[in-house]
Amino acid sequence: MTSIPQVTLNDGSSIPQLGFGVYKIPEAETVDAVLAALDAGYRHIDTAAFYENERGVGEGVRRSGLDRDDVYVTTKVWWTENGYDSTLRSFDASLERLGFDTVDLFLIHWPAPKHDKYVDTWRALERIREEGRARSIGVANFHTHHLDRLAAETEVVPAVNQVELHPWLPQEEVRRYDREHGIVTEAWSPLARGRVLGDPTLDGLARKHGVTPAQVVIRWQLQLGNVVIPKSSTPARIRENLDVFGFELDADDLAAIAALETGERTGKDPDDLG
Ligand SMILES: NC(=O)c1ccc[n+]([C@@H]2O[C@H](COP(=O)([O-])OP(=O)(O)OC[C@H]3O[C@@H](n4cnc5c(N)ncnc54)[C@H](OP(=O)(O)O)[C@@H]3O)[C@@H](O)[C@H]2O)c1
Repeated sequence: MTSIPQVTLNDGSSIPQLGFGVYKIPEAETVDAVLAALDAGYRHIDTAAFYENERGVGEGVRRSGLDRDDVYVTTKVWWTENGYDSTLRSFDASLERLGFDTVDLFLIHWPAPKHDKYVDTWRALERIREEGRARSIGVANFHTHHLDRLAAETEVVPAVNQVELHPWLPQEEVRRYDREHGIVTEAWSPLARGRVLGDPTLDGLARKHGVTPAQVVIRWQLQLGNVVIPKSSTPARIRENLDVFGFELDADDLAAIAALETGERTGKDPDDLG
């Protein structure tokens, strides 16, 4: 079974560097997808209240027969619930749907700056961590100016910043800020929702290493030091995306991928949502 590296977070806990995302997997298919991922060797599942499949994630973990402690589970509060009391209620509802007493990582899903409640949301996450109901707390889709505001107005530095990150959008500025402040960068849509995989440069690198373009991109993410959570509903791809520890990209390969940056997003700019 593949041994997945662990990344140490600023609160002393650790997160498996490669996990399994379940966005857009319908609730009814989520149990099987999670079971396929855990059977392949993943030990980290990324869900959210917004994905409406937390029940399937919890059920998949229970049916796998693995100890709850051996599977790292992340969930998130949706931006419409940003605010102190609403976040506490949303977290309780997520735990109830998952059927868990605790989660490993709880994230603010989007800052939604026009809504202007992410600072209060963060204070709720600080309380949840203090109570031991989330082992770690973090944010998603935070630009550096959102992180600066949290630093000025709250106590705990986020353990993780989960952002859209792929060869078209390598997020150099966010990654540098995160690194300088002890925040781990986690890549969502690491394959640009599959769209980047037709790129001829990635095809060439895949041929060079005898792997697939998806494996090249996931390997690139790992070598950058990102935590990465590719999603697939296809069992063969679920296994393929984990099989990335038998080759290494060299400096020329990394430079070729760096040249693919276009700034293109598959999702919204965080300043524009909410
Ligand atoms: N925090 C946030 O705001 C946020 C936003 C979006 C996503 N996320 C998280 O990040 C996870 C991953 O992002 P994502 O689901 O948007 O996109 P992704 O992982 O970049 O791409 C998933 C797409 O790529 C295809 N794919 C996967 N492996 C492949 C392979 N080996 N070869 C060819 N195609 C492949 C999948 O198809 P099949 O499924 O048909 O195999 C699916 O269409 C999500 O599931 C979610 O957990 C977080």
